[in-house]
Amino acid sequence: MQNFILYIFIVLYCTSSLLSITLSPCAKWNITATTLAGGGLPGHNASQLNYPDGIFIHEKLKRLYISDSLNNRVQVFPLDQSTVIGLTVIPHVNTCTKIYVGSNNGNRVGKWTKDSTQGAQVGSSCRGCTGVWLDQDKNVYISDHKRHCIYKWSPLTNISTIVAGELDMSGPREDHLTEPRGIMIGQITDAVYIADVGNHRIQKWPKNSLEGVTVAGSSDGTPGSDSSSLNSPHGLFVDEETKIVYVADTSNHRIVRWQHGETEGDTIAGGNGRGKASNQLHDPFDLSFDNNGNLFVSDSNNHRVQFFNLIDNRPCHAPSPSTTISPSTTTISANSSIHK
Ligand SMILES: *[C@@H]1O[C@H](CO)[C@@H](O)[C@H](O)[C@H]1NC(C)=O
Ligand SMILES: *[C@@H]1O[C@H](CO)[C@@H](O)[C@H](O)[C@H]1NC(C)=O
Ligand SMILES: *[C@@H]1O[C@H](CO)[C@@H](O)[C@H](O)[C@H]1NC(C)=O
Ligand SMILES: *[C@@H]1O[C@H](CO)[C@@H](O)[C@H](O)[C@H]1NC(C)=O
Repeated sequence: MQNFILYIFIVLYCTSSLLSITLSPCAKWNITATTLAGGGLPGHNASQLNYPDGIFIHEKLKRLYISDSLNNRVQVFPLDQSTVIGLTVIPHVNTCTKIYVGSNNGNRVGKWTKDSTQGAQVGSSCRGCTGVWLDQDKNVYISDHKRHCIYKWSPLTNISTIVAGELDMSGPREDHLTEPRGIMIGQITDAVYIADVGNHRIQKWPKNSLEGVTVAGSSDGTPGSDSSSLNSPHGLFVDEETKIVYVADTSNHRIVRWQHGETEGDTIAGGNGRGKASNQLHDPFDLSFDNNGNLFVSDSNNHRVQFFNLIDNRPCHAPSPSTTISPSTTTISANSSIHK
């Protein structure tokens, strides 16, 4: 199993209102994916990627942003054309988005705005900044996988506080995290959802809570490949209304959907062993949905981004609660390197 040191952390944030789809808890995606970017050998020309990590779909511009981690760049690919040629947008950001980028060996998070040529630091330094998220008040949440905690930085006070985990303490206790990476903040509840990688689980820390609850995976911190376990999950998306958690279950090479209150998840993409066939994944790191409910996956160790078409969005049974996806903020991480 690889662990990754992440050097660039990006949040693309677009304030324009977005279309949204209601996604059924029983939705199905075509298990045969299409490659949208990269594929083949890792490399650094315009059609190649090298360990893509975070991905972000910009609906309005119809663009896919990819943190092309080992190439130390952020690539953007058009979604409405057949070309597989990517453009490098960092450091020359040219969209309506704001981009937060951590650089200098992953010990800070920087904010890149339109036309800027370098990022401005936000928050205090961290040892292993990994995930980043903006809430609606523009507070910046940062995961520090080396210090096992999540910080929240306020732009008003310029003060960072720890909102989950305990500094330098790891382990499976419910008040601890181990190598947290992907994070997401619930817009409705301000809860912090965390890919608790080293504990092989997804944790939810309600606002102002002193401990987390496991919302996917095994709460005791053990990895596994059955339907009640995860193995080094790096990325997540939480649908707040249904509380369904979608997980990039990295070392199981699958994308898992975990219904609220369940002790097992079901595989919605991959899960056919490690490989590069169109129904396989190899270390998926991140996932994202577009407004039509299609699923995008950064298939890191295959150096590509995969697209899984939504093919069935019927309710599970008679009228069932459906959900709204409004991916107005997301996280992109880049410049990873393997250290283990
Ligand atoms: C899934 O995608 C493949 C490849 O694009 C296509 O041949 C197949 O018909 C699709 N299946 C469904 C059920 O849409
Ligand atoms: C990138 O390199 C690959 C492999 O050598 C090659 O097939 C592809 O055409 C190249 N793409 C560009 C845009 O140069
Ligand atoms: C990316 O990582 C390499 C080391 O692998 C480092 O030399 C480089 O400065 C990093 N780039 C950024 C933008 O942090
Ligand atoms: C914010 O705090 C950091 C240290 O945590 C400091 O280096 C920086 O200068 C401060 N910025 C402002 C605008 O006060």
